[in-house]
Amino acid sequence: MNVLFVASECAPFVKTGGLADVIGSVPKALEQLDNTVKILIPAYPALKDWIKHGDLLLELEDLFGGPARVYSVRAKGLNLLLLEAAHLFDRKGTIYLDEEGYDWEDNAIRFGALSLIGAKIGLDGIGGWKPDVINAHDWQAGLVPVYLRQSGRKAPPVVMTIHNIAFQGLFDGALRGPLGLSSGLFTPDGFEYWGHIGYLKGGIAMADKITTVSPTYAEELLTPEFGMGLEGLLRSRQSDLTGILNGIDLDIWNPETDKALTKTFTAKTLKRKAANRTRVEEKFGLASNPDAPLFCVISRLTTQKGLDLLLKSIPTLIKRGARLAVLGTGDKKLEDDYRAMADRFPESVSVEIGYDEELSHMLQGGSDAILIPSRFEPCGLTQLYGLRYGTIPVVARTGGLADTVIDANSAALTASCATGIQFSPITIETLEKAINRTCDLFKEPKHWRVMMRRAMEQEVGWDHSAKLYKQLFSSLIEERAD
Ligand code: ADP
Ligand code: GLC
Repeated sequence: MNVLFVASECAPFVKTGGLADVIGSVPKALEQLDNTVKILIPAYPALKDWIKHGDLLLELEDLFGGPARVYSVRAKGLNLLLLEAAHLFDRKGTIYLDEEGYDWEDNAIRFGALSLIGAKIGLDGIGGWKPDVINAHDWQAGLVPVYLRQSGRKAPPVVMTIHNIAFQGLFDGALRGPLGLSSGLFTPDGFEYWGHIGYLKGGIAMADKITTVSPTYAEELLTPEFGMGLEGLLRSRQSDLTGILNGIDLDIWNPETDKALTKTFTAKTLKRKAANRTRVEEKFGLASNPDAPLFCVISRLTTQKGLDLLLKSIPTLIKRGARLAVLGTGDKKLEDDYRAMADRFPESVSVEIGYDEELSHMLQGGSDAILIPSRFEPCGLTQLYGLRYGTIPVVARTGGLADTVIDANSAALTASCATGIQFSPITIETLEKAINRTCDLFKEPKHWRVMMRRAMEQEVGWDHSAKLYKQLFSSLIEERAD
């Protein structure tokens, strides 16, 4: 089966978060199951060099104000279709933000263009290759099914995957003209959202099926608390909505071979992990204390991630002799607050503001536990990396965090099946309790070691979920053929 992915990020080339990790890993698992997956992605500066190795397959004189080309290239085990449109994608700043940190003013046009080309490839194929099914990811690809619908032509089915409903791609309704969108579909059951163009909304309304990245988030999305205004639409499409849990790339995230580690280790050689802890303590200038855990955070610093709650819980953590190493970037106020906390308690709290892939591996390898107090979390990947590295996840019970961590309650401890700590509701008090529980457990090395081993044995790859995607795609293709 031929599958076209349309997405705005793909690891290891361009990444702002977990979306990139997923787009860079699930295609490999689908290929193992005899599918061909091609990923349509803009040729941002970070991807431009790959064009030299690519084949030119499509040329357009004008794509929303400038010329565009699509090249095909095999890069790091992935089939990329690079959309080169210099007027839209070849710029400094990040892929979504300008150099001052504001959304690019023309984001609607930039990702409208990505979606339009995705739809075009769906309709006409590219270089003799035609997708049987399209998987559009997040709002940046939300207009794919809209453009297909308005073409009125026979098109492959589309699966819309929601990675985070907090980002919906809402833009001025007046952009309909420049985007070439049909006014006939600009209705509340089409792509209109209270007078705006809703990219994700249009995608959800017009895709054949909708997936999100964990079963619990699929249920949460139907409620006003989590649906963020789209719960009604999602409820109306409930029978087409499923949650398929994310997996991780087991080669990139492998404590047995990871080059960022001082000492590699496995579930059978856990003692070797200690050298990595020492390295993190040194690197972050933290005191060492064999009696209390070293916690880490690797995250966007935002309220979604609950890191304002953690900030308030730091005194509890320090009281227990624990230490905290934070790697993150995001809200300026949170960055400043964390910096201030590190200045106040230099031996216990250390903060690295920035984005650093290698350091994230080092932290997963050297920390005892990873804190993820998210208010909502569609799936979350850092707890999965934590499990794989025997770094115990301490998580809020929500979304994918609820689905992937087995809480160390007394029954789970007795049955030796615990893999982490969960807490709910998500408040400072419950978070503090979770931190205290983690510190208590850490003082019982037997329990802690069993938990580390269980965590490391948990299946966190794509094997199972790739099969679910394949089944979903196949069933849609069969339906279309009938
Ligand atoms: P989200 O996509 O909501 O940010 P996920 O847990 O799904 O959350 O994915 C986050 C990804 O980004 C993970 O791969 C994590 O390791 C990475 N990450 C987040 N912040 C940083 C950072 N400051 N430096 C390096 N990697 C980071
Ligand atoms: C989003 C979500 C995160 C999820 C990731 C990949 O960024 O916030 O929970 O893991 O997408 O699906």
